[in-house]
Amino acid sequence: MTTDILEQCRATLYANDRGGYTVPTARLYPFQWNWDSAFVAMGWARFDRPRAWQEIEMLLRGQWKDGLIPQIIFHAPSDDYFPGPNVWQTGHTPETSGIPQPPVLATAVRNVLQLDPKGHTHMARIYPALLANHRWWAEARDPNGTGLVATLHPWETGMDNSPAWDAAMARVPTTTTTEIQRRDTGHIDASMRPKAEDYQRFIHLVDCFRDTGWNAAEMYRRSPFRVADIGTNAILLRAERDLLFLAESFGTEAERREINDRIARMASAQDTLWDAQKGIYVCRDLSTGTTMDVATSAGFLPLYANITTHAETLAATLTLWLEHARWLIPSTDPRDHRFEPKRYWRGPIWAVVNWMISDGFENADMKPAADLIRKQTRALIDSVGLYEYFDPTTGAGLGGTNFSWTAAIRLIMAEH
Ligand code: GLC
Repeated sequence: MTTDILEQCRATLYANDRGGYTVPTARLYPFQWNWDSAFVAMGWARFDRPRAWQEIEMLLRGQWKDGLIPQIIFHAPSDDYFPGPNVWQTGHTPETSGIPQPPVLATAVRNVLQLDPKGHTHMARIYPALLANHRWWAEARDPNGTGLVATLHPWETGMDNSPAWDAAMARVPTTTTTEIQRRDTGHIDASMRPKAEDYQRFIHLVDCFRDTGWNAAEMYRRSPFRVADIGTNAILLRAERDLLFLAESFGTEAERREINDRIARMASAQDTLWDAQKGIYVCRDLSTGTTMDVATSAGFLPLYANITTHAETLAATLTLWLEHARWLIPSTDPRDHRFEPKRYWRGPIWAVVNWMISDGFENADMKPAADLIRKQTRALIDSVGLYEYFDPTTGAGLGGTNFSWTAAIRLIMAEH
């Protein structure tokens, strides 16, 4: 049975391969997505190492001169997705969107390199690209050196319609200069996707950024949405630690010092996002200075960044969540009135988040929690298939099928 599912995972990656890059799934997401590709490279590395490096190289083809690695690289045209390159108008070749996504890449590179030590030949090109990208995060998104990077669009978090954004998004106008032509609801039932009003606000922000000519400093200044996402910040901190590891072999002494400085600043800033009452880390609205009054699965991610101070409490919180949802890990606290078990990032389980959090518990020497998450993730995928996300109350598969990152995570989790 296990061999069958692993075979299915490999077949899914082959089927979603578009000649050197992997689409998240056919039709719904017909381009290369940033954090999807980082996870997918780790999946490829389990059975085709050259192909794993190619995935990374293709993603880096989309990197901007200022260091940004965009959320989407539009390698080839498609009518199946909105908003396409004609809406973004970033003026890059290949065409790209103009915002980032969670920076998993340095972590993926380290992981792939461990499986393929000969891959160090790729590092002359990849290491400087990663360093430039981490410098971009610090300069473009934390210009005041606070240790917390800002998110200017919910899509940057990869958790598009999380209830963590509700309060801050409510202040974003619903007016757009771009005509909204959604394609996603032609592929997937609307009840499992973000709402119309969410899309109006998403596109309002894109319009606003395009109006700055995609100038990073202006975007930071003008964006009506500016939050410190605990997910993005924890993923970046973990990536900085992995970059430091790579810098031991491929970087200079000065670069290691620079990375170490950022790590120290970020680790202490993330501490300030601990919510003792909720027993989990939360996001902060940087426009108002208030913390977001909702617990989401991103709040476990500091463990993945090796911040283990509150590991015991986080394990207790996870147990409480499990009492209210049959399967781990719901994307929103299942006791919260905003929890919606079928709607995208407002409740469903996502395999990539489960992998990061299980890795975090493993780092914190809390193997039982790590094992439980992995066991449940494998059981879900093996019984219903390679879905985009899953209902934590019933275990049903939701959203797109034959999903690349779900396949990649299943391949990675086969090792535990
Ligand atoms: C959705 C998800 C995002 C993902 C993308 C492609 O936009 O919210 O996290 O990267 O789909 O799978």
